[in-house]
Amino acid sequence: MTRPFSIVLAGLGTVGGAFVKRLASREDSAPALKLVAVSARDRKKRRALPLEGVAWAEDAETLLRHEADAVVELIGGAEGAARNLVEAALAKGTPVITANKALLARHGAALAALAEKNDAPLLYEAAIAAALPAVRVSRDSLSAEPVARVFGILNGTCNHILTAMAGGRPFDEALKDAQRQGYAEADPSLDIDGHDAAQKLTLLSALCFGVAPSEAAVETEGIRDLIQMDMRLAEGFGYAIRLVADASAAGGGRGIRQCVRPRLLPLGHRLAKAEGAINALIISGRHIGDLLLEGEGAGASPTAAAVLSDAAALARGDARLPVFSRPAETLREASAASSEKEAFQEAFYVRVFARDEPGSAAKITRIFAEEGVSLARITQTDEIRDKKTSGGVARLPVAVITHAAERAAIERIRARLKEASPIAISVETESAESV
Ligand SMILES: NC(=O)c1ccc[n+]([C@@H]2O[C@H](COP(=O)([O-])OP(=O)(O)OC[C@H]3O[C@@H](n4cnc5c(N)ncnc54)[C@H](OP(=O)(O)O)[C@@H]3O)[C@@H](O)[C@H]2O)c1
Repeated sequence: MTRPFSIVLAGLGTVGGAFVKRLASREDSAPALKLVAVSARDRKKRRALPLEGVAWAEDAETLLRHEADAVVELIGGAEGAARNLVEAALAKGTPVITANKALLARHGAALAALAEKNDAPLLYEAAIAAALPAVRVSRDSLSAEPVARVFGILNGTCNHILTAMAGGRPFDEALKDAQRQGYAEADPSLDIDGHDAAQKLTLLSALCFGVAPSEAAVETEGIRDLIQMDMRLAEGFGYAIRLVADASAAGGGRGIRQCVRPRLLPLGHRLAKAEGAINALIISGRHIGDLLLEGEGAGASPTAAAVLSDAAALARGDARLPVFSRPAETLREASAASSEKEAFQEAFYVRVFARDEPGSAAKITRIFAEEGVSLARITQTDEIRDKKTSGGVARLPVAVITHAAERAAIERIRARLKEASPIAISVETESAESV
């Protein structure tokens, strides 16, 4: 009888706990896996996990004293215990499975080099979009496909908040709900300010475009400034607002443009239809057209399922190197400068609060004209009034959709309209049917 594939695990939180439970109650036909030792911060914490017969290691270093076929890291964080454990395991030649996008976004290229040097696979299917097989599809299935663009909804917390706001719920209540359901990061600013999605995008860019992961190369903006009225105004124009992570070939293929930003999507667009904590990813290639992956992108059970699928791949001997789409030493540097942000033109939704008095909307449209940006649509509503008044006069929301313009021009307009608390969001103009 062949012996089961042995695993040591660091981290018994949301994902680690679900992974332990899943290992103890397998109904699948994947190879036999045996958990031999675990480690977490606090041994005394009540966990209600099936850990009988599993050794406890005081820290990550002790964990590695147990002979194991693979190390599973589910601690989180780009530095400290998680980084030390992954580096030590790979240096020993032990394969590693991790769900840690923060670690890979910061040290991915160096860890990939270490893994490849020691012939130790480094697997991270759970790090991008949990149940969506984003790594396998982009690294293996599409290895011969020249990818032009990879874009999607990669943060379930933001998507939950935005769709709840569109349904009339306040931001804070929607965030608390996401936290209760276990798919919010421990520090919610990582989700809301777009960093979590940016970290995941760096991994997709490494897989699809062969650039080294670098969060600094991703233009990142979160959803903090959006208000419920933006959802209603956008819907009136025929759009939904989503936080979209987007990487595309730019400059004739020489550069990669990477950004995470709120975006207006036509209501019929496939990404606009992804509601709640659902993640959705579109990979566009010259020969394959648009490929859509959609499903549970976070949460205990889908993330543990992705970790388990990596463990099964290792146990079957299916896990391969290199870690990304090409050997670590040949990954190109991803620089923000390559994003060609100035020359890129797109339509924008701009919302301001205008003084409720004659001529105020005309003053706003004049500024757009002076900056050479023409307007496709404009709307004003008195459904809400800003609590802030301007010189004792109430302020009402005014929203426009522009024709294609450079972001630099829109930023100039925002600066000139600073008193009117402007926000600007780019608009996906491609029709829903074509995606
Ligand atoms: N939650 C999700 O939906 C999700 C989805 C995809 C990826 N991920 C990723 O999965 C990883 C784990 O996330 P999580 O949500 O499960 O986090 P979590 O609930 O906060 O759990 C973290 C675990 O790590 C342990 N830990 C903390 N510091 C440690 C140290 N110095 N040494 C050993 N163990 C330590 C904690 O111990 P104690 O229990 O004793 O405090 C806890 O068990 C992260 O990289 C996260 O980004 C999470």
